[in-house]
Amino acid sequence: MNKRSNALVFAVLIGLIIVAIGLGFLIGLDNPIPWILIAVLFLIPIAYKKYFKNDAIIWKEEYSVGIQSLDDDHKRLIYLLNQFKTAYEYDTSAEFERQALGQLVEYTRFHFSREEDMMQEAGYDDFEEHKKQHERMIAQVEEFVGLYNREGHDSLNEVSTYLTNWLINHINGTDKQYTEVMQQHGIK
Ligand SMILES: [Fe+2]
Ligand SMILES: [Fe+2]
Repeated sequence: MNKRSNALVFAVLIGLIIVAIGLGFLIGLDNPIPWILIAVLFLIPIAYKKYFKNDAIIWKEEYSVGIQSLDDDHKRLIYLLNQFKTAYEYDTSAEFERQALGQLVEYTRFHFSREEDMMQEAGYDDFEEHKKQHERMIAQVEEFVGLYNREGHDSLNEVSTYLTNWLINHINGTDKQYTEVMQQHGIK
């Protein structure tokens, strides 16, 4: 079941409990069942949060590469990634799903290009290897987009996992290696 179905099941359950409480009170206020159901009603949101926890990615200070414009780009990428994950996990419309994936890929290209220009400007030694990582990622994402065009929604689980792991590992690992050189060149 996707998250939208889970939410629907919980909403139906809450509705049924409310109806049962009403019917229970019609029998009499000394009937214990509606009081028990009221307690259950309060426990449902807690159970929902526990079992279907939000797995949105949150930007942390430790992800900072020390360059404000690139941190802003990375925050935007994480925002777009979360938007895509929501579109996929809640099995929204194909249009929203495609749009969210498209925006993420488009902004990734824009960010890579900006980051590469800044690395070159700073004369960063590992520029070529870093650029190759970007190119490999874009090639992989293009394959995923092709797969999505052929197979639709079900192919997106792999895409979501790949993008989440790749982006966080890249930002938190490879990207951080240029910080010192860029800062030495006064890049902000
Ligand atoms: Fe980056
Ligand atoms: Fe990068």
